[in-house]
Amino acid sequence: MRHDDQRLSVVADLPADGVVDDRAADRVTPEQVWQHPRVQAYVRVANDSLRQIGYTEHGQRHATVVARSAAELLRQLGYAPRQCELVAIAGLLHDVGNLVNRQNHGQIGALLAHDVLFALGMPIDETVTIMGAIGNHEEERGHAISPVAAALILADKADVHRSRVHNPDPARFDIHDRVNHATTRSVLHVDHQAHTLALTLTIDSAIASVMDYFEIFLSRMLMCRRAAEYLGCRFSLVINGVQLL
Ligand SMILES: [Fe+2]
Ligand SMILES: [Fe+2]
Repeated sequence: MRHDDQRLSVVADLPADGVVDDRAADRVTPEQVWQHPRVQAYVRVANDSLRQIGYTEHGQRHATVVARSAAELLRQLGYAPRQCELVAIAGLLHDVGNLVNRQNHGQIGALLAHDVLFALGMPIDETVTIMGAIGNHEEERGHAISPVAAALILADKADVHRSRVHNPDPARFDIHDRVNHATTRSVLHVDHQAHTLALTLTIDSAIASVMDYFEIFLSRMLMCRRAAEYLGCRFSLVINGVQLL
């Protein structure tokens, strides 16, 4: 899964790959959720709010990249197509809570997601799965409480890329801008047979060092390791060809 893929299509190219397709015709789809006017407004305002306080991009690009990556991760691990759709929906909605406040945005976002999913008629068992995943995606207080939550954590934390930097002035980059700007490639490799998940990054060391990366992302990588273990996999981090975790 490449994180520099800017396409907005969420799960259109997810084949069943031998897994029985258990999706009902009247299910709520990621595309329906994404096209909901309230969701479009939430994502736009959340991103604008974070831009105001100097955060990296958390808008349409991040939401769709995370949705696609998380769905692809569960698909490659053999989860049912509907589980892949549920994690795609969680990915699309996971950062909308930032429109209220950065603090506790996971919990806020879970409640905002509930309103949208309820309006679309999603069954309660699916709604609470998505709410739990969104409410547990922040490293300060999140836990992999379900396969959907675990995949969301991994896809979210794997999205490190220079296109996420809002700040147009390199002279005023903070460490988050620097690390994101330095990252030219981010790929989450899944080996279903070996039960391994590897996040492979290419970083321009003239812009940021591997130590810079660890300074801000160590807690995220530890969260990824626990999420991978929940999915029965071993997590590894490879930066510029060197395995660091
Ligand atoms: Fe978040
Ligand atoms: Fe995120």
